[in-house]
Amino acid sequence: MSFESSCDETSVAIIEDGHKILSNIVATQIKSHQRFGGVVPEVASRHHIEEITICVDDAMREANVTYDDIDAIAVTYGPGLVGALLIGVTAAKTIAWAHDIPLIPVNHIAGHILAGRYVEKIEYPALALVVSGGHTELVLMPEEGEFKIIGETRDDAAGEAYDKVGRVLGINYPAGPKVDEMASKGKDTFDFPRAMEKDDNFDFSFSGLKSAFLNTTHHADQIKEKLNKDDLATSFQDAVVDVLVYKTKRALAKYPVHQLILAGGVAANHGLRSALDKAINDVPNTQLVKVPLKLCGDNAAMIGAAGYVLAKKNIFAGVNLNADPSLDF
Ligand code: KG4
Ligand code: ZN
Repeated sequence: MSFESSCDETSVAIIEDGHKILSNIVATQIKSHQRFGGVVPEVASRHHIEEITICVDDAMREANVTYDDIDAIAVTYGPGLVGALLIGVTAAKTIAWAHDIPLIPVNHIAGHILAGRYVEKIEYPALALVVSGGHTELVLMPEEGEFKIIGETRDDAAGEAYDKVGRVLGINYPAGPKVDEMASKGKDTFDFPRAMEKDDNFDFSFSGLKSAFLNTTHHADQIKEKLNKDDLATSFQDAVVDVLVYKTKRALAKYPVHQLILAGGVAANHGLRSALDKAINDVPNTQLVKVPLKLCGDNAAMIGAAGYVLAKKNIFAGVNLNADPSLDF
């Protein structure tokens, strides 16, 4: 059994052997946060409290299991919103204690990456490009259970940039999927910057791109010029994807790996998926593992997959496990 409650989805899953999903219940709170244009931590915590036991019941019913069938309980304990994390951690600890079931502490990012286990057996060393609303990271995994961040965003996460430019285009939070759809219809006509592309590192920066986008739309508003929204979306997406792909290829050149895993909410992006499909052809002996669209966003099945790997390494927690909002690897 696994729990995920780090942001705005309450989720409980039952998985078997670390790669078979018996149930994966996701209660999304998106509607409650939309009117505020983003996730409100207090609102998120309240929803998690309301939803978590319902998710447990639904997950167990759908998987047709009782507590006697549960070998271990995996839970996200960070990074994320502290109040939100605490609900999942408390629920998982309570069930673990009451039914004497081992508890596994899982890093949310490890969960996103190891959702790749539902597609392929992970062959190490592997590299992961993790792109979500809170993170944009290149994570090297020399061996199973080992994670080393070799590059990350210096400012905004890619998903955060999508959500911010989407707001300017009049799209509800989370804007990523809609911007992605618009981008498939437009042309790259605006010359948006590719920040840090030529720098000798694996880091990213998206705040300059966001500002360039906002300046362009603001200027057009002032002179009452109507810009083509699809072209804006395409130009923005091409800039994001170019940098992500460029830096990933650079990392693959330095660290030869068996697999590249594309994970996180923004991994659902069609432009990014097809650009990496093409890019991987130039990288010999490396297989691209794309987390399935259904498992890119936050969900508990990915936490179960990571929990399985940690349990094999004998990593367990006691009832003193606490939420760690800024957890690192
Ligand atoms: O991983 P996730 O569900 O939550 C975090 O851990 O942050 O990622 C959510 C983010 C949001 O910013 C959302 O706009 C973005 O993923 N997203 C996308 C797409 N689908 C979701 N961004 C670009 N294209 C998409 N198709
Ligand atoms: Zn996430």
